[in-house]
Amino acid sequence: VYDTPGVTCGTADDVLVLPPNDISAVARAVEECDPAAVVIEATGSHWGTVPIDVPFLRQLRELTAKRGVLLVMDEVISGFRVHPGGVQGDVRVTPDLTTLAKILAGGLPGGCLAGRADLMEALAFDNRYGRPLSAAAGIAALEIVAGGEPCRRANDFARELRLRLNSLFSEKGADWVAYGLYSLTKILPNYSGPAPDGDDFRPYANDFWKLEAERDRKLSHAFRQALLLGGVDWMGWGGMTSAAHGEDDLERTVTAFDGAIDRLRADGLIR
Ligand SMILES: Cc1ncc(COP(=O)(O)O)c(C=O)c1O
Repeated sequence: VYDTPGVTCGTADDVLVLPPNDISAVARAVEECDPAAVVIEATGSHWGTVPIDVPFLRQLRELTAKRGVLLVMDEVISGFRVHPGGVQGDVRVTPDLTTLAKILAGGLPGGCLAGRADLMEALAFDNRYGRPLSAAAGIAALEIVAGGEPCRRANDFARELRLRLNSLFSEKGADWVAYGLYSLTKILPNYSGPAPDGDDFRPYANDFWKLEAERDRKLSHAFRQALLLGGVDWMGWGGMTSAAHGEDDLERTVTAFDGAIDRLRADGLIR
């Protein structure tokens, strides 16, 4: 059940939201509802708050292919960012359609849907309203990304960042944990569970309800402010790294987290 401004009841009624990484739930829903398509954000929703397991993606591909249900991967955030071929290129699971939207146009307005030729043929329309500037920016960005080096750098940086942050949290005795996929990093505050034992660590064994739980708003706001005082701005409890980040940014970010924890403690907001 969800309630999002702009999503009509009709649309919502036609959509079934399922727990991630649960192939039997998908199998049951396909059996009972005979849907036209299964849509999944390839990293897991909200760029991997509950990271999707690769075996689940493979099972999803098999199940949908067998049942004649389209598999649509949303790679609006992960496309070209995590790998030149997106998550699907990295893990080699090919959906029927891929939404890439604005990630295509190198930061300018533009969009893209890609997929099986017969489906694209059916959807094709005469687009006389292209934006040459967006197309040129997109082509330039894709040429830079094509060899894979920018994605590798961003992913390596994020892995190092998560490692450094988890060491910092442990040194300071803070009950926070950093986790994530590729260049997409999440912080989970008030964490009580086993300590991370590697970068594929999943807090609470990837329990949807614990990872997607609403965060304390006052703490979330204070956390962002505290990081800003250290010169680092994150999008709430998560951040994405890019190929433009370097060693200085890593140090600055870890130092900003160190200071933020001290400030939040001084204000009595965390233990
Ligand atoms: C993962 C994901 N899917 C879809 C969308 C929607 O994209 P658009 O606003 O271009 O339709 C967004 C927007 O940020 C997104 O992050």
